[in-house]
Amino acid sequence: MRSYSLIAPAKINLYLEIIGDRADGFHELAMVLQSISLSDRVTINPIGIDAITIRCNDPTIPSDRTNLAYRAAALMVDQFPDMMARHGGIEIDIHKQIPAAAGLAGGSTDAAAVFVGLDLMWDLGLTQGELQTFAAQIGSDVPFCISGGTALATGRGEVLSPLMNLDHLYVVLAKYKNLAISTPWAYKTYRQQFGHTYVSAPQDLQSRHDRVHSGSMVSAIVKRDGAKIGRLLHNDLEKVALPEYPQIQALRDAFAAQNVLGTMMSGSGPTVFALVANQTEADRVLGAVRGQMADPDLAFWTAQFVPNGIHLA
Ligand code: C5P
Repeated sequence: MRSYSLIAPAKINLYLEIIGDRADGFHELAMVLQSISLSDRVTINPIGIDAITIRCNDPTIPSDRTNLAYRAAALMVDQFPDMMARHGGIEIDIHKQIPAAAGLAGGSTDAAAVFVGLDLMWDLGLTQGELQTFAAQIGSDVPFCISGGTALATGRGEVLSPLMNLDHLYVVLAKYKNLAISTPWAYKTYRQQFGHTYVSAPQDLQSRHDRVHSGSMVSAIVKRDGAKIGRLLHNDLEKVALPEYPQIQALRDAFAAQNVLGTMMSGSGPTVFALVANQTEADRVLGAVRGQMADPDLAFWTAQFVPNGIHLA
């Protein structure tokens, strides 16, 4: 039994449309998801005791069942009970760089790495589709985090169609260190305020999905047209997060004033990103906005779009 070290990229949303309610209590969505080079490193080690343990360089990250990486390992142990008996337990060592509760799928991508790592460590030979079916039980973004790249995501977010590689584009990301938004809060508040706009009839759901599939964002991605992608960024959850958190709106305004291709909150927030054409632009925009906001509570990163999800380090 050897250890496996995996790179687990963060994701941003280029598009997030809330279409309606689903019978399972989740929302029917149409999203475009993009992996970025900001990533965690997840190492799966075999250990001599029959247990799942989590180690993390960030002491604020929980090491119990509330950690999605733990839940991914527990699900795999349930599915393949012989493996723990034969090979012993699992230590998951997470080197975190992706901020938590940030709208960047940090917890989901660590869980995705656990699925891929255990498939390798136990030599199960599962297909990507089989891993993604397990992954969907842990969270809506986990299947995407396994395959990564650029993808259209529908259903709860787990029905994926790969799109054109956009690795020529870059982002500047900014997040208030002490601001975290709960995803259930964002969706619940959206339902309270916009539930009257939801569609539920199967033919209406289908036509909304078709509109996104054949819509201008997908065509801008197929053409790898960064300027057009920037103009078409869309996230319905901004409608609840921006009025509640004026500091997110202020960050967005600061990026917009920098002549970037586009700017938006990612997922349920609170991270805001600015889309730019190259690393030089990313460094310029980061310097300008950091100087202007001059707030020690603000953290910044630059990242490149990447064409893959979980991969060996
Ligand atoms: O699937 P995940 O655990 O990431 O979802 C977190 C929460 O976000 C859910 O409990 C739900 O409140 C909301 N959500 C939703 N519809 C989706 C995805 C998430 O309502 N498609």
